[in-house]
Amino acid sequence: MIKKINQVICGNVSKKTLKEYWTFRHQSNKKFTHGLHKYPARMHPEIAKKIIEDYADKKTVIIDNYVGSGGTVTEGMLNGINSIGFDINPFAILLAKVKTTVINEKAAEQEYLRIIERSKRDYQKGRFYPKLVPNDYDVEYWNKPSVIKKLSILKHYILKSKKNYKIKNFLKICFSQTTRLASNERKDEFKHWRMPEDELRTFRPNVFEIFSKVCQKNCSLMADFKVTMRGKKSKVIVKYGNAKKLSESLGKKEKKILKNAKKHLVITSPPYGDSGTTVAYGQFSLHPGLWLDLPTKRMKEVDKICLGGQRYKESRIELGSKRLNSRLREISKLDIKRADQVYAFFYDFDQSLAELAKILKKGSHLCFVIANRTVKRIPIQTDKILIDLCKKYHFKHIVTYPRYIPIKLMPRKNAPENLKKNSGKTMIEEKIVIFRN
Ligand SMILES: C[S@@+](CC[C@H](N)C(=O)[O-])C[C@H]1O[C@@H](n2cnc3c(N)ncnc32)[C@H](O)[C@@H]1O
Repeated sequence: MIKKINQVICGNVSKKTLKEYWTFRHQSNKKFTHGLHKYPARMHPEIAKKIIEDYADKKTVIIDNYVGSGGTVTEGMLNGINSIGFDINPFAILLAKVKTTVINEKAAEQEYLRIIERSKRDYQKGRFYPKLVPNDYDVEYWNKPSVIKKLSILKHYILKSKKNYKIKNFLKICFSQTTRLASNERKDEFKHWRMPEDELRTFRPNVFEIFSKVCQKNCSLMADFKVTMRGKKSKVIVKYGNAKKLSESLGKKEKKILKNAKKHLVITSPPYGDSGTTVAYGQFSLHPGLWLDLPTKRMKEVDKICLGGQRYKESRIELGSKRLNSRLREISKLDIKRADQVYAFFYDFDQSLAELAKILKKGSHLCFVIANRTVKRIPIQTDKILIDLCKKYHFKHIVTYPRYIPIKLMPRKNAPENLKKNSGKTMIEEKIVIFRN
């Protein structure tokens, strides 16, 4: 299909038709385990599926160096292809692992029903487990007292469960979604905002019912996944690792899989900019991560070590994009700090490309899903800058497909002058940029 579309591009297909094609507006992005849990700026799984159809065969290994919630590796699995994913967010790693692990959903179902029954009994008896309540964030500000008690009881029974670790991890992801839904946070935000007082007054979340509904929905998604996975065999590795130090993050197992592959296929959607001014993956994941006892230090540093998380004190190194340089000059005139942040993002992004160049086999393909943002109302053409940067690594640009962003959890508007009423449009389109090594 992509080949056909390619032919059409060379003809006179309108840009709008092409964008619609890659938008997958009418295809769910929550099929199978893709719908287990929210995650910011999730890639539409149909993109990965189409790219796999066109560029992979059974001897290919898929790499996603910004694996996030694991959409790419899940599609790899659904297509019977080995894949490896890395991320610096421990919560994303847990989620991606659960999404790529087939479990007996019936056993999970029995277990969650048992957990709820016992939890209700405990709560009625006035029991709760203060030691299981995270103390690394202002839990009382973000949750009502009854919610904290009920969450601690659910956590107690999940931890105590005698089921295998795969089922327990699945239940932990259901619990994580429950902590979000039952908290005082505004639900459709990617950053932490508390509900307004008047809304909070009438907000009475039924924690056990929320957990029950999440588990029920997730068991049904898992059942579909299990049926579709029948007879398919592929290896998936999801690991904590920094894209800027990818070659160091590879263990023996990953090296062997990469070595034995005929070629590699990178399918990834890196952050669109630094966490501070675009999507804050760390903020989104912090509270659920702490409820799940994921390593506090790592959870708290996600946004700092995300691309562009730290400004560089030394003078700038030439990255090889005149376009980037001219944008940086324009932004510097308005706000030097913002220009430094933009530079830091591209500096880090460039390092991650250098790391890919170290490990990729010749003849491999790379597919980046990115968005062009505006900073201080100045458009940053990340797709074109990416093409410039990739030249250094001999990644040959093949094609760029545009698409609309219909449903992602991410900012649509920004405030370039930091004045709320002066908001400007930000990312409503993405680019799928494809290269060959
Ligand atoms: C756009 S999201 C990826 C979404 C993913 N494709 C999905 O479908 O869920 C970008 C991811 O990059 C991760 N990230 C940011 N900087 C990173 C780095 N230096 N190394 C590895 N991962 C990083 C973030 O934690 C986030 O999960």
